[in-house]
Amino acid sequence: MTTQFEMSAEYYDIFYSQRRYQDDVAAIEALIKDVLPPDAAVLDVACGSHEHARYFNPRYQIDGLDNNQTFLDIASAKNRQRPRPGGYHLASMDAFALGRRYDAILCLFSSIGYLPDTTALHSAIQCFSDHLAPGGVILIEPWLAPDAMDSFPAAQVVTARQTSIARISRHRIDGDKLTLWLHYLTSDSAGVQYFVEEHKMSFFSADDYRRAFDAAGLTLEFDPIGLSSARGLYLCRKRVTASQGRAMAANA
Ligand SMILES: C[S@@+](CC[C@H](N)C(=O)[O-])C[C@H]1O[C@@H](n2cnc3c(N)ncnc32)[C@H](O)[C@@H]1O
Repeated sequence: MTTQFEMSAEYYDIFYSQRRYQDDVAAIEALIKDVLPPDAAVLDVACGSHEHARYFNPRYQIDGLDNNQTFLDIASAKNRQRPRPGGYHLASMDAFALGRRYDAILCLFSSIGYLPDTTALHSAIQCFSDHLAPGGVILIEPWLAPDAMDSFPAAQVVTARQTSIARISRHRIDGDKLTLWLHYLTSDSAGVQYFVEEHKMSFFSADDYRRAFDAAGLTLEFDPIGLSSARGLYLCRKRVTASQGRAMAANA
C-alpha cells in the first residue's frame, strides 16, 4: 500500500487526459477578468501536474505549489514553454510563506479536501489570505459531500499515449473523514504493474468553510455550479472595513 499520489503522480496526466481543463480556465478567466491586471500573478495551490496553467492567458504568471515533488517536476517541465514561466514551491498548503502576493489564488479539483482537519483548514485559508494582493480573489473548489460519494467513479479505464490505466476505488466514511483506496493496474512499455494508494480526506461543511474564511478576514460567495466538475466554487475576497472603504473612496 502506498500513500496518496506516491505512485500515481506520474500517470496523472494520462488518467485525466479526457478532462477538460480548458473549460475550467475559460470559466475562471470569465469570472475574475475584472480583478486581474493584464500581467496578473496567479498562485495555483495543490497544482498537481499543473495542467490548468497550459490554458491561462500567456501574459499571466502562474506559479504552482504542491507537497509532491514528482508533480512539481512534471509541472515545471510543462510550464517552461510559457512566455512567463511560473515558479514552483514544494510546501504544504496549510504552512507556506512565499514572501509575495498574488492577484488570484486557486485551489482546484477538490484538493482542499486533503487537509486533515478544520485546524489545518484554518491555517490554509489564513496562508491564502496572507498571499492575496489588495483587490485579489481566491477560488476554491471544495470536495464532495459525504452523500455525493455515490457519484465518485467506482471503476475507470483510460488508454492514451501507449499506456492503459484501470482504476477501481473503494472507500470508507468515518464521520467527517474519508479513506479512499485507489487500486491501479497500469500497462506501458515497462510492463504491467499493480499498486494501491490510500488517500485520507476530510468532508468540510459549509459552516467549516465560513468560519475559516471569516477568521482570515475574507468575504465569501458560493457558486453551486462552479467549474466543469460541478463541485461548486467558493469565491473569496479580503473583507474591506468601513474605514478602509472610506479611504479607498477618497483615493478613487
Ligand atoms: C486531485 S489533485 C488536483 C491537482 C490539480 N489541482 C488538478 O486540478 O489537476 C490533488 C492535489 O493536491 C495535492 N496535495 C494534497 N495534499 C496537499 C497539501 N497538504 N499541500 C499541498 N498540496 C497537497 C496533491 O499532491 C495533488 O497534486
